[in-house]
Amino acid sequence: MLKYKVLVIITGSIAAYKSAYLISKLMQAGIEVEVVATKSALEFIGIATLEGLTHKPIYTDVFEHGKMMSHIELTKWADLTIAIPASANTISKFANGIADNLATSLFLAHDFKKPYLIAPAMNTAMYKHPATQESLKKLSQWGIHILPTDKGHLACGDFGEGKLLEPNKIFGHICNHLHRVGSSKQIVLITGGGTIENIDGMRNISNMSSGRTAVKIAEYFYINGADVTLLLSESAVEPELDLNILQYNSFQSLKILLKSELTSKKYDLVIHAAAVSDYSPTSIEDAGVKRKLPLQKKLDSSSDLLKVILSKNIKLVNNIKTWSINSNIKLIAFKLLDNKNDKRKGEEIKKLFDNSNADLIVFNALSDRNNEVQQLFEIVNEDWENETIETADALAEKIFNKWRTK
Ligand SMILES: Cc1cc2nc3c(=O)[nH]c(=O)nc-3n(C[C@H](O)[C@H](O)[C@H](O)COP(=O)(O)O)c2cc1C
Repeated sequence: MLKYKVLVIITGSIAAYKSAYLISKLMQAGIEVEVVATKSALEFIGIATLEGLTHKPIYTDVFEHGKMMSHIELTKWADLTIAIPASANTISKFANGIADNLATSLFLAHDFKKPYLIAPAMNTAMYKHPATQESLKKLSQWGIHILPTDKGHLACGDFGEGKLLEPNKIFGHICNHLHRVGSSKQIVLITGGGTIENIDGMRNISNMSSGRTAVKIAEYFYINGADVTLLLSESAVEPELDLNILQYNSFQSLKILLKSELTSKKYDLVIHAAAVSDYSPTSIEDAGVKRKLPLQKKLDSSSDLLKVILSKNIKLVNNIKTWSINSNIKLIAFKLLDNKNDKRKGEEIKKLFDNSNADLIVFNALSDRNNEVQQLFEIVNEDWENETIETADALAEKIFNKWRTK
């Protein structure tokens, strides 16, 4: 994994506590974080919280012994800087070249080739004030990325603009910028979620796949700069990042999308994590009368017995390498069984390798799933070497590194 370095500047706003959540999220994503807090910021959030989260000392003072050149060094160190929350005072200082503390001095030393994001947070009047608005405009013209604010209830009791953007959304903005500086140029196709087979527009046949693992993997590749296309089921969880998503519902729609992507774009890697129905409903029998599915109108519930006829689908995974216009494409296939000691495990994995020509298989068991989250994965390579991995994030990192070294 590329170890990104993010410099977080915290200033004196009531929303300063929200920066702790963002720092925690960045750390969990494997990003290295350094924090600079203004003196006012430390009136709102404690050093203990910040040091506890980053495992590092916090910078505040320009003239601190032993850290005298941090106003230049931190700028050189960071891949991206974010001021969160950015006070009206600091924003106007930035725009006027005032360098009277570490945060503002660092801004003057900023290298404009790297992204600098500002997440303003203040009372509506302060936000709308011409001094603030003119400063934001000037900063934006200089190439600084000004994030929008939310509209909502503010600490002062007012309702309006100026509320700090949700930290999850700020995290998304950061990742979108890191994606652009990321060095991975892999072109990756990922499938996730479960197919949904329509019966009558209201009922359907589906499975319990949430798409979480696929989304985590897609986000990991994306943050690291890869060109990611995610084929995601309509019922799957929503990614936090700005991914290129193509939605599917039925087996048929997934098949069409998958084939069209593989035959039109030269993908380097396919990670096929979607739970694809082995059978699709083709007709329904009610009192001896057979009707083709899906029905155009809601099926009434007067019959005591209904028969839904299911027809076998082809195995999409077995066609991926054949459909791809890249003859060197790598394929990662997924296999789910009831539990990891299932007697059929070895045989099923062999069958999947033989039929799909996969380069790596991720085995997971239903018994290792908790609250819709898969707790354990086992990866098996062509030489039958296997390794157990505990989280989707760790799985994403493993796949990313394995594929890069090949
Ligand atoms: C309780 C309280 C809440 C404040 N909240 C904000 C705020 O949300 N945004 C802002 O721009 N200033 C806010 N201020 C004012 C700043 O803290 C003040 O302008 C300070 O000088 C900013 O310093 P700094 O920009 O160096 O961090 C608040 C002040 C107090 C006392």
